Amino acid sequence: MPYKLPAAPEPDGLLTPEVGRWAEDKYKLVSLYDRLFSTAMKNKWDVRVYIDLYAGAGFARIRHTDRLVYGSPLLALAITDPFNKHIFCEADASLLLALQKRVDRLFPKSDVTYVHGDCDEQAHQICAAIPEHSKIRTVLSFCFVDPPNISIKFSTMRALSHQRKIDFVVLLALYMDANRNEQHYTSKRNSKVDEFLGTTSWRARWKHERLKGIKFPRFLAEEYSRQMETLGYINLPFHKMKKVRADKNQPLYHLALFSRNKFASTLWDEVLKYSTDQIPLLGNA
Ligand SMILES: C[S@@+](CC[C@H](N)C(=O)[O-])C[C@H]1O[C@@H](n2cnc3c(N)ncnc32)[C@H](O)[C@@H]1O
Repeated sequence: MPYKLPAAPEPDGLLTPEVGRWAEDKYKLVSLYDRLFSTAMKNKWDVRVYIDLYAGAGFARIRHTDRLVYGSPLLALAITDPFNKHIFCEADASLLLALQKRVDRLFPKSDVTYVHGDCDEQAHQICAAIPEHSKIRTVLSFCFVDPPNISIKFSTMRALSHQRKIDFVVLLALYMDANRNEQHYTSKRNSKVDEFLGTTSWRARWKHERLKGIKFPRFLAEEYSRQMETLGYINLPFHKMKKVRADKNQPLYHLALFSRNKFASTLWDEVLKYSTDQIPLLGNA
């Protein structure tokens, strides 16, 4: 149950997108990480910033039920030792407005910057909203990247991480998108994976790995981790990415932590320890 919110959202007549039951795993895991991260860092940094690149409306309804759940931005606002600043980006103006109304009602004192638009196109604006780090005011950011597919461009990760202390939890839509579209995405004329990984060199490696029997989702996950390494992040091995499954036990996506600091990896290990490969993950995050 989130710390500063009623256990479940009350219907409020605002836009509330539907999500699959498995989204609850994501919420529990990410809000646990938010909590561990923000509490552990509160005395070490002057300013802690939470960034949600795919923010949504703040509430969601579990498909085929009347059950409402809090989305990632509200879960981040509700932790015990809150972040000092929040930046929420959302491409859909009506969802962003619903989120803003909910935040104004539930967290009227919070410091939030709303960015409307495609996070890849708005990367500059998002960066501009992050307070500048200096010797007299140290700033640490945590960014949740929750795209519906592998659309997040690596150029955005590069821009956000440039000369900035920032950790990421990234939802890698390896099965719900990449696996289903393997043929399409690996065709010569398709640039989706080039943009996702920020390089075209993966194609030569894929030829090789495929012959060894490596599956496309795993290949992409490892390539992503390797690309993050080029930005100074610790390579997260595939077995430390949290696999989230759908109702019929089909894998859907992986959640991966990227940090330049070993301590964050120990927090991620805590999260993994409390989660299982099946739903539900946790009773109370
Ligand atoms: C899977 S939902 C995640 C919502 C939120 N993180 C949560 O868990 O409650 C993805 C959201 O990203 C938005 N979106 C899709 N593409 C986007 C983009 N390129 N930039 C910003 N938002 C985008 C969608 O409108 C949708 O609300």
